[in-house]
Amino acid sequence: MSNHLHKIIFPTAGMGTRFLPTTKATPKEMLTIVDKPLIQYGVEEALAAGMDEVVMVTGRGKRSIEDHFDISAELENSLNASGKTELYEIVSHISRMVEVAYIRQKQPLGLGHAVLCAAPWVRDECFGVSLADELILSKGKNAMEQLRAVHEQTGASVIGLACVPDNEVNRYGIVKAHDEDGFLRLDDMVEKPQTELAPSNMAMIGRYIFTPRLFEILKTTKPGKGNEIQLTDAMCQLAKEEPVYGVLIEGERFDAGNPYGFLLANATLGLQHPKYGKLLRQALRNIL
Ligand code: G1P
Repeated sequence: MSNHLHKIIFPTAGMGTRFLPTTKATPKEMLTIVDKPLIQYGVEEALAAGMDEVVMVTGRGKRSIEDHFDISAELENSLNASGKTELYEIVSHISRMVEVAYIRQKQPLGLGHAVLCAAPWVRDECFGVSLADELILSKGKNAMEQLRAVHEQTGASVIGLACVPDNEVNRYGIVKAHDEDGFLRLDDMVEKPQTELAPSNMAMIGRYIFTPRLFEILKTTKPGKGNEIQLTDAMCQLAKEEPVYGVLIEGERFDAGNPYGFLLANATLGLQHPKYGKLLRQALRNIL
């Protein structure tokens, strides 16, 4: 069993094609949900789950992610000097919340390849992977904490799942699973299947914990769907070699990397926001 789980990979090199033209010059991870960018929600979730060694696999045009987590001395000094204490606290907290390492994925060869780029940094440890465009709001344990709980009981790889409608299975990696001693053991997964070929409607929703064996498999994983090295294909092989478990995540999930999911996330969090919630509710009522 492994309680030593500190490392987490955020693949952030994707081109954000579902959100063009916004993502032409702005990383999708920097899209704002109410008052902070998606990537910050992801990092805060990971930190709360005890994963405090973060690596981001970035690409060209992703500099603003690095700047977001870096110290901005000019801004901090200016906020301090003008007595804007509350803003100063917010800004300086972000730059000090975590040490982040950055690795460049030089070519867009797929999610599996992005994860493999971080292998020299992770080495021989279990590690998390989080896709920041999937925003998950949980009342109790957050999504990564839910995965971690099963990982600590089993020592195995654990994948976050959610049931999706039949007409959406072709947007996700879909799993085939069976019950085993109270856990959901995954037998197979397929990347973005046609509805008729989907083994279930349980989709992978961008939260993963892996044993380091995954890296060995990724090294020999051939390009699959879309001619990309798919994480899903490597997971399939992993599930053949050792147990891989699924967890149906408790929480409300938003696929915020596309405009509709983004709007829904903003509306939901906006309505809950202590400062803007009441005003937004009234304004929406007026519109409707
Ligand atoms: C990726 C994965 C897919 C997963 C999805 C979750 O797809 O390849 O298996 O279900 O993230 O959002 P992408 O959205 O990058 O095409």
